Amino acid sequence: MCGIIGYVGPRQALPLVLDGLRRMEYRGYDSAGVAIQSEEATLGVARKAGVLANLEALIDTGEVALPGSTGIGHTRWATHGGPTDRNAHPHRDSHGKIAVIHNGIIENFAPLRREIEDAGIELTSDTDTEVVAHLLAAEYNSGQAAGDLPGSMAAVCRRLLGAFTLVAVHADVPDLLVAARRNSPLVIGVNSGEGEMFVASDVAAFIAHTREAVELGQDQLVVITPQGYEVSSFSGGEPDYREFHVDWDTDAAEKGGFEYFMDKEIAEQPDALANTLRGHFDGTGIVLDEQRLGEDELRTVDKVFVVSCGSSYHAGLVAKYAIEHWTRLPVEVELASEFRYRDPVLDRDTLVIAISQSGETADTLEAVRHARRQRARVLAVCNTNGSQIPRESDAVLYTHAGPEIGVASTKAFLAQVGAIYLVGLALAQARGTKYLDEVERDYRTLSEMPAAVAETLTMMDPVRALGREIADSKAVLFLGRHVGYPVALEGALKLKELAYMHAEGFAAGELKHGPIALIEEGLPVVVVTPSPKSQPVLHSKLLSNIREIQARGARTIVIAEEGDDTVAPFADWLIELPRVPALMQPLVATVPLQVLAAEIARARGYDIDKPRNLAKSVTVE
Ligand code: AGP
Repeated sequence: MCGIIGYVGPRQALPLVLDGLRRMEYRGYDSAGVAIQSEEATLGVARKAGVLANLEALIDTGEVALPGSTGIGHTRWATHGGPTDRNAHPHRDSHGKIAVIHNGIIENFAPLRREIEDAGIELTSDTDTEVVAHLLAAEYNSGQAAGDLPGSMAAVCRRLLGAFTLVAVHADVPDLLVAARRNSPLVIGVNSGEGEMFVASDVAAFIAHTREAVELGQDQLVVITPQGYEVSSFSGGEPDYREFHVDWDTDAAEKGGFEYFMDKEIAEQPDALANTLRGHFDGTGIVLDEQRLGEDELRTVDKVFVVSCGSSYHAGLVAKYAIEHWTRLPVEVELASEFRYRDPVLDRDTLVIAISQSGETADTLEAVRHARRQRARVLAVCNTNGSQIPRESDAVLYTHAGPEIGVASTKAFLAQVGAIYLVGLALAQARGTKYLDEVERDYRTLSEMPAAVAETLTMMDPVRALGREIADSKAVLFLGRHVGYPVALEGALKLKELAYMHAEGFAAGELKHGPIALIEEGLPVVVVTPSPKSQPVLHSKLLSNIREIQARGARTIVIAEEGDDTVAPFADWLIELPRVPALMQPLVATVPLQVLAAEIARARGYDIDKPRNLAKSVTVE
């Protein structure tokens, strides 16, 4: 997820573009850059790795002259290519006449990159975005739409697969920007009274200047000039856009209108999961990115260890069920802080999967180092491109959840589950425990889950009401079986870290071995139940657990599949979820537990984004 802004109008573009980037740094801070069109038909470009302040320091040196009233800016969350100066946007064509900024992932950038190299053009970065700059120049200079920047952009967009918001400026086309979007956000800021226009990833970039905005539909292209905007479809459809008035204040705009970043990130989960899964099946099977472990190496794996901490550990516990079921490989999931002290049995045929949102967690990093000293191969599942854990791993599969600002992991957790399911399918394919058609079927099923998560998000009002009702409870227990057990653990962790309330997750079968002594009158107990259709035996055991605790006075909060009328009579609160396959249940069942914890914390008046005593990345052991 990156921050994008463009400006055309009577004012100097640079300060407006920098101000817009400042308001979008939460969208990415791996690098920042600007391109400003000068009156002498040149583009002044400045780019710098790291936070925006690094770019501002570079600009302050005066090394690069940036006068002009048309410009674009970008703050990056790295996906393809590490967070370096050379990979910073804007990216230009070989003649420096066109500058392009991009938010998203172009799935077919590799063949397009080869096409450009075959044409004798030397690329100067590792990014997918630079490919667009060269394609756009080729179209503009000698394509069917030669000399027509909008027409050239439309022709390029028709060749791209994946998710993209693109904004381009040409040194020879004054006072004009062209932008286009597919599966990635783009809004226009209209300030007609001042004869100026903005284009951006979200309204936070320009609401200090105008609250009149226009959102664009799928596959739309827009031409921006000081006089206004013109929308068209680049894929043959009708123009699709909607004008609206923004009534958020600036702070709310950075949170997309939500009260906290965590609220926004819970809502972003369908996109985070979809962006993580997108493009990982190419017809010949599962394609992992930055995979430096070939299928032949995956085939020799005879044991899997998952090492991680906190929510990432819970993602690993979920993955254990799927990977063992799909590959018949033994999977151990170990807390990274325990891993090396237990001196685990590792060898060249052990695959260690290190899951980390930040890629900087010291416990997990030390576990990775220990594993490699034992000659095991390490695959990192990480949300932060260029961080330390991927750098020290043999292979990397990036989640594409975008920056997660809230300390409590939400969209990163769901993206981790989706990513490690991809690893499981890749292992099953390499080992032959799944035929290609089965891998494709399971990938398609997984790819339907973002829609199920989106549907779940529309069913959360009862959960918010429940959170307010039980906000004063002393404790809450969470029960689950099979993949519902790690979901119970994750729900308990959310409640602990957000509402500072005692919460504990149990495997429901363990209840009778001690924890049932905790049950007392009025104690809220969340029970994550499986579908009666896909796991009838487990479902009946959970039903028995529910009746046992209710008989002892517990207030039962039952998470169940929509229409499951067998558990309803025993639920003091029934929270229904869309029906999904058994192994996919964590992707929908975790959502109400995130919402519940956030609502209880809100009712208690706590800062949901910055819980006490916690940091987003724990870089000490
Ligand atoms: C989860 O809500 C917490 N923020 C925390 O447990 C986190 O998952 C853990 O510290 C691991 O962080 P990582 O994924 O960045 O390695």
